[in-house]
Amino acid sequence: MRTSIPYHEVTWSGHEIEYLQQCLTSMHVHGDGPFTHRCEEILAQKLGSHRALLTTSGTDAIELASLLLDIQPGDEVIMPSFTFVSTANPFVLRGATPVFVDIRPDTLNLDETLLEAAITSKTKAIVPVHYAGISCEMDTILAIARRHNIAVIEDAAHGYLCEYKGKMLGSIGDMGVLSFHQTKTIAAGEGGVLLLNDQKFATRAEILREKGTNRRQFFRGEVDKYTWCDVGSSFLPSDLIAAVLQAQLEAADGLLAKRRAIFSRYMELLKPLQEAGYVQLPTVPSGTLGSGHIFYLILSDATHTAGLKKHLSEKSIASVSHYVPLHSSPAGERWGRAVGTLPVTDRVASSILRIPIYPNLQAEDVEHISQTISTFFS
Ligand SMILES: Cc1ncc(COP(=O)(O)O)c(C=O)c1O
Repeated sequence: MRTSIPYHEVTWSGHEIEYLQQCLTSMHVHGDGPFTHRCEEILAQKLGSHRALLTTSGTDAIELASLLLDIQPGDEVIMPSFTFVSTANPFVLRGATPVFVDIRPDTLNLDETLLEAAITSKTKAIVPVHYAGISCEMDTILAIARRHNIAVIEDAAHGYLCEYKGKMLGSIGDMGVLSFHQTKTIAAGEGGVLLLNDQKFATRAEILREKGTNRRQFFRGEVDKYTWCDVGSSFLPSDLIAAVLQAQLEAADGLLAKRRAIFSRYMELLKPLQEAGYVQLPTVPSGTLGSGHIFYLILSDATHTAGLKKHLSEKSIASVSHYVPLHSSPAGERWGRAVGTLPVTDRVASSILRIPIYPNLQAEDVEHISQTISTFFS
């Protein structure tokens, strides 16, 4: 057993250095090289998307999506407040208003029953965030979006190979976004992908990602010069990032199997605390599959959250809270709008504690962490 348990640790597949070496010796280290193409093939095929375009981060993938949708000043984009700033910031950069809706108390995902009331004539997109890789109620969200002719961009930053009714997260809405930041289940340091689930976006997305030029078409021999055609930015990652990502993607099934096993074990070991009413454990709705990206406890009495964190820390076990709600943050108050009060968001933000979960965590570590949590409540 470890003497000190960090909150997070990357698990390398063993092929990262070999692929980095190959990339360096090939002299193709800029974007759109062989590793980028292979990663995009793997992602589109595994997730069932029309196209996958690697980006420098999940944040950039959302920014690319907002450009593709031509989000304009005055537009509104609906999202949960319990999320990372990157769900909102790309739309604020376009001059749009993020409209914050409360979350469900069970999955901590956007509460679909509150969606209709948030829609106005200015609503251009809904961004459901699949918190911890556990799916939002996508059928209801899509039906509402279709009825109002609003685009859906799934923020599946946490959700590689997670499922909703047999479909992969990120492949269900018009577009989907994943993150490959170091802290995610598949880690390339930084990196992301924009999944295009409708072929109508593909040509323009390539142009916006390449500084507004048709450089990709030029490299395919489809045009004899490349030129400035549209707005855009530099969203394409180096092939070095893609080399690391390819090694991770090839190992993904094994990495996720270990996380899912740890998640199930925590559920078994901590269930008595839920039954005694001390904590709420994650809910994985039927028909969905998570990946063990995050394991959290929501304390019934929020005043004990700091105490549990301290208790774990005294035993050298790291634990962390999560998002500071966007609707009440300084930038959220300045640029966003909340739909009513968001009581579930506020309660969860003050009482959530995430505990270590990663493939290298050993069975005895999981027992030790669970035991330490149990002694706090006893
Ligand atoms: C819900 C959510 N969306 C988007 C992002 C942004 O991803 P990245 O760090 O790759 O920019 C994150 C990052 O943690 C996230 O948690």
